[in-house]
Order: sequence, then structure tokens, then C-alpha cells
Amino acid sequence: MPSGTQRPYVVAHVAVSIDGATTGFRPDVARFYQLAQTWKEDLTLAGADTILAQAQVLAEAERPGPAADGPLLAVVDGRGRVSQWRELREAGHWSEVVALHCRDTPARPPGRPVRELVAGPDRVDLADALRTLVRDEGIGVVRVDSGGRLIGALLAAGLVDEISLLVHPYLAGEQATRFWYGDRPAAAPLTLVAAQSLSDGLVWLRYQPDHAS
Ligand SMILES: NC(=O)c1ccc[n+]([C@@H]2O[C@H](COP(=O)([O-])OP(=O)(O)OC[C@H]3O[C@@H](n4cnc5c(N)ncnc54)[C@H](OP(=O)(O)O)[C@@H]3O)[C@@H](O)[C@H]2O)c1
Repeated sequence: MPSGTQRPYVVAHVAVSIDGATTGFRPDVARFYQLAQTWKEDLTLAGADTILAQAQVLAEAERPGPAADGPLLAVVDGRGRVSQWRELREAGHWSEVVALHCRDTPARPPGRPVRELVAGPDRVDLADALRTLVRDEGIGVVRVDSGGRLIGALLAAGLVDEISLLVHPYLAGEQATRFWYGDRPAAAPLTLVAAQSLSDGLVWLRYQPDHAS
């Protein structure tokens, strides 16, 4: 975590096609998660749509229970669309799960097996939520798991310290529905901090937004 700040080190690690898409191609999931271990995150920050896209996998997965040594999972869920909290909690990847809501999030059923943190009026205030997680949970490193829209929102708020792209030798083209940077990011210079050719035509690129250097 950058010294003297109340903000964690935030890395967006994404599997992309050469045209920057996060969907519309088959990512090398094993390699993606192997590289994701680079940062040893304290917190995995996921968007609701990323979780909803995994609904069937989650429903069918084994449930070994919370991983005592695993990171915390926080899911941005401003509209209260996620319901598989028990499945997430027991998936064996995370020690605990936190739902990030805002004041306009629809009422939740009582007794949900998830902690919640309310930040912001009509959308989750990402900066405020991260500050609270640093203060209350001692979070230092956050890895963002997102198809792009959550990354775009974090970028817009100046909250991203590193962008890690695992580039696949594939042009998603018309099959793409999401891009790693979200919808329409502001132009910004980046500094390349590492570039590595891997097997199977994969390339791993790591960048820092200039505000983070
Ligand atoms: N290739 C990869 O590495 C990769 C990784 C993960 C996911 N994916 C794929 O990507 C797709 C999902 O990606 P996505 O981009 O649609 O969704 P996403 O990354 O899950 O992001 C959507 C989330 O961001 C929140 N959000 C967006 N703008 C915000 C703002 N300004 N303030 C606060 N919160 C904001 C939304 O909040 P609300 O819920 O409140 O609207 C929502 O929870 C799925 O198909 C998934 O399979 C690919």
C-alpha cells in the first residue's frame, strides 16, 4: 500500500483478446489464475456482473467452505442482484465475503450469509468502500476481477495502481461484448512496467497509470 495513504494498492488483472475484449474468446483460465497469484491480494474485488456470469458454475461447484488463509471477497452490488452469497462464501477461495451496497440498494432478505458495507447514495462509492476496508480489515492489496465496467469506474476515480493484461492471440471482433477499460474511459498515459512472452502465444503486459507512479 502506498505509504501515508488510506487507499490500498489496486491491480486490475484481466484476460484480453488483442482487441482488448474480455468476452468473446476462450481465456486460458489456468494461466490467468496462476499469474493472479503474483500479488497475493488481501481482497478480491469483483463486479456483480462478473459474479452473475458465473452463476451456473457456482451452483455446481464443490463447497469446501471458507479458506482461512484466503483473501476477502468484496462484491460491488449496488442494485442487489447477487444472491449466491453462501456459494461464494463456501467456494474455498475466500476467507469471508462482503457485499458492497449503496443507500438505494433494494431491501435485502434477513439472515443473509454475508456481511455488508453500505457506501454512497445511488451507486457504491468505490473510494469510500476501499477506505473503509483498509481501515476495518487492514486491506493492503486489492485484485480486481472484472470484465471491464468495474475497472472503468475505478480508473475514472483514479483508484487503479496497476493494469495487468494477459493478451491472448485472438481477435474477438464482433464476438466481443465487453472491453477491459469499460465503456468510454478518459485518455491517460501509462507506463509499461513489464512485458513477457509466454507459451501458446500469450503475452503478459503490466502498466502503471502515471498518477500511480
Ligand atoms: N476476461 C476476464 O479477465 C474477465 C474477468 C471477469 C469477468 N469477465 C466477464 O466480463 C463480464 C462482466 O463484465 P462487466 O464489465 O459487465 O461487469 P463487471 O466488471 O462485473 O462490473 C460491473 C459492476 O461494476 C459496478 N459499477 C460500474 N460502474 C460503477 C460506478 N461508476 N460506480 C460504482 N460501481 C460501478 C456495477 O455496479 P451495479 O451492480 O451497482 O450496477 C457492477 O457491480 C462477464 O461476461 C464475465 O464473464 C471477464
